[in-house]
Amino acid sequence: MTALKNPRKVERLVQGQATSDGAGVKLTRVLTQDLQRRLDPFLMLDAFGTDNPGDYIGGFPDHPHRGFETVTYMLQGRLRHRDSAGNEGLLAPGGVQWMTAGRGVIHSEMPEQQDGAMEGFQLWLNLPARDKMCTPGYRDISAPEVPEWQGDGVRVRVIAGSAQGVTGAVQREATAPLYLDVHLAPEARYEQPLPPGHNAFLYVYRGDMVLVGATAVRRQRMAILANDPACDGVALVAGAAGARLILIAGRPLGEPIAQHGPFVMNTREELVQAVEDFNAGRLA
Ligand code: FE2
Repeated sequence: MTALKNPRKVERLVQGQATSDGAGVKLTRVLTQDLQRRLDPFLMLDAFGTDNPGDYIGGFPDHPHRGFETVTYMLQGRLRHRDSAGNEGLLAPGGVQWMTAGRGVIHSEMPEQQDGAMEGFQLWLNLPARDKMCTPGYRDISAPEVPEWQGDGVRVRVIAGSAQGVTGAVQREATAPLYLDVHLAPEARYEQPLPPGHNAFLYVYRGDMVLVGATAVRRQRMAILANDPACDGVALVAGAAGARLILIAGRPLGEPIAQHGPFVMNTREELVQAVEDFNAGRLA
């Protein structure tokens, strides 16, 4: 592992907001709308995790999207996906669903279980203006298809981008997204190079805490990493209980962001068009 010379510091810790979406699914919105500009090209991060079926059983019935990509990463539980392009898939533990909404899809994500735990993340990745109306795409990446790197007390699942020479399951040219699931044994250390201009954040979902420089990032907290031009990456050290976290980074698009619910475009006019197209049945 190449040693970093000057790791990034934590700019801000974020707790996330308890909310519900779909048909009453309880979740924590970690990346909220007010952080979209700061964390460009990422628009949203939801963390869901419960072993109470009442919190998830309603699922996410048919709803539309346009203008960006949704990335769902399952840790526990199973969700059945169906969309208007005719795609169907089962999201299972350790697997990823990468859906490019492009000009529009209508889809549902419904629990395929009556009880047990349901846990995972949904990330929204913006598309550059030129790709917002692209043909919709859909990929299921099962757990064994997610490339991994193993080090001393460290396991890194490379969902997007690359880490320690391991190329991840998904690459995107415009935003070069990095999406890592990092598992650290007690007091294990991991360093990940990051381009200074890329916006980056991490979210701790297991263990007691991760040290980023002098800052302790506790479980269920997001840390936004400072964009210091002199810095070359992030250094993570797990606490005594070990830790698991997701680390996400990408090149900002620097384009206007206009959002109306599940539509994310560049202008208000494009949002009006999206709603009209949806109401006229042109997204299906
Ligand atoms: Fe959705």
